[in-house]
Amino acid sequence: MTKPVLQVIIGSTRPGRVGPAVAQWFFDIAAAEGSFDVELVDLVDYNLPIFDEPRHPVLRQYEHEHTKRWSATIARADAFVFVVPEYNHSFNAATKNAIDYLNHEWKHKPLGIVSYGSMAMGVRAVQALKPIFSALRLIFCGEVTIPLPINPVVDGVLSSNEVLDKGAAAIVRELAIMSPPLQQLRESGAF
Ligand SMILES: Cc1cc2nc3c(=O)[nH]c(=O)nc-3n(C[C@H](O)[C@H](O)[C@H](O)COP(=O)(O)O)c2cc1C
Repeated sequence: MTKPVLQVIIGSTRPGRVGPAVAQWFFDIAAAEGSFDVELVDLVDYNLPIFDEPRHPVLRQYEHEHTKRWSATIARADAFVFVVPEYNHSFNAATKNAIDYLNHEWKHKPLGIVSYGSMAMGVRAVQALKPIFSALRLIFCGEVTIPLPINPVVDGVLSSNEVLDKGAAAIVRELAIMSPPLQQLRESGAF
């Protein structure tokens, strides 16, 4: 039987970013849990310009190849974990841009957030993301926030600890509970 697809989305796009290391840490925990086929999705690979579709995404009438490609990726997911940095007391612009490109592809799917920053730990990024996901009818399944001064990325690997590992595993378990009923609802045509 095929497993549902969980996409771990790397939101940071800057050269030298730590996002991929944080995402890899979460990916390994999610893959070990076993409920999902886990994919890493890196915004850098999609090279999305600042939103440039002429029509509202709710119409799903995309003109540009970059949008069609991004849409096809997100449409095949059953659950998401956004891995986002805190920038200026919020989350980074590339993440918002990538979210705004689409609409139905996000809807009625469960998601978790992994955020990181300096001593603010990415908490303000999480708070800023929540109303956006709510507007898109994503179902929130938990968060982990990481203080990089305490849990740095060293040689491309996140220095995690038991608390962070348990928090990540709890998100995966919650996503695994919410994913099948939401998939059923999407397939029922009720929405
Ligand atoms: C433009 C910018 C703004 C930042 N603002 C904050 C902030 O408001 N709060 C915080 O805790 N860390 C802040 N940081 C620190 C970042 O969270 C940290 O550098 C992190 O590594 C960024 O993620 P990335 O390396 O994956 O891009 C900021 C970093 C940048 C580049």
